[in-house]
Amino acid sequence: MAEAIAELDDQEVWIDLLFTRFKIEVAQERQPALFRALENFAAAQNETAVSLYRRANSRQLSRSTWAQIIHLATNHETRFYRNPSVVQLVAQLARDFPRPRILSVGCSTGEEPYSLAVELSQQSFPNFKIHGTDVSEPCIDTALSGIYRTNASIPERFAGRIESGQRMRFGWIKDFVTFEQHNILGERPINFTAPNIIITQNMLIYYRSRTRKRILDLLSCLLEDGGYLITAPAEEANWNAQGFERLHSLAAPVFRKQS
Ligand SMILES: C[S@@+](CC[C@H](N)C(=O)[O-])C[C@H]1O[C@@H](n2cnc3c(N)ncnc32)[C@H](O)[C@@H]1O
Repeated sequence: MAEAIAELDDQEVWIDLLFTRFKIEVAQERQPALFRALENFAAAQNETAVSLYRRANSRQLSRSTWAQIIHLATNHETRFYRNPSVVQLVAQLARDFPRPRILSVGCSTGEEPYSLAVELSQQSFPNFKIHGTDVSEPCIDTALSGIYRTNASIPERFAGRIESGQRMRFGWIKDFVTFEQHNILGERPINFTAPNIIITQNMLIYYRSRTRKRILDLLSCLLEDGGYLITAPAEEANWNAQGFERLHSLAAPVFRKQS
């Protein structure tokens, strides 16, 4: 026990474990909040941080417990039309493809993919597919439910109002949007082939520059020739985009894969 406590005194062990098992990196400034959240999480299960760490380290945690820990370790802030000019940009680039296939990596609770779907529908795109992925299972569960607090940027014809207008539920548009729990740093391939556009915003920022480049390399391989890879400003860490043309003066960094 003394040994385990000593290990926990060095809270780096949790960081190491998350990295070794899942390649998840927790930035220094987020670590105190993660440790507090882990303590509360352990207490809610009649455990202590020590017993939880022991079980985690000896591979005794269930899949759902790990899912909740991974959720605690990542930041999920998002909102509908978070950056309206980027939503417009995606719609503009999607015009290059007869049936655009758009992949949103690190989509959190789904607001980004649904915003894109609403925008493409409003712009009368006849056919498209949008796939959102996130490492957090609770986030993907919310996205799959399609139920949110009512938001003025989402017209009622896309999401009917429920609970006296307090909440809204996406309906038919869900036929165009799919979601998947997926760790972009894991081994399993994404269940969505040949995207024409990949957007990853506000996720790379939580990773070291070397990892960001690795993620961008991975995404660049998934993209169809002639497709677009979109990040957020200052997130691409001087990625050496071989085989890509960088487009300038747009709402976000865009790299076009040469045909
Ligand atoms: C701050 S949110 C950004 C949501 C949305 N893209 C936006 O810009 O509003 C970042 C999301 O990236 C997810 N994430 C972090 N690491 C990931 C990984 N390795 N694979 C997939 N998703 C990851 C987190 O779970 C979180 O929901």
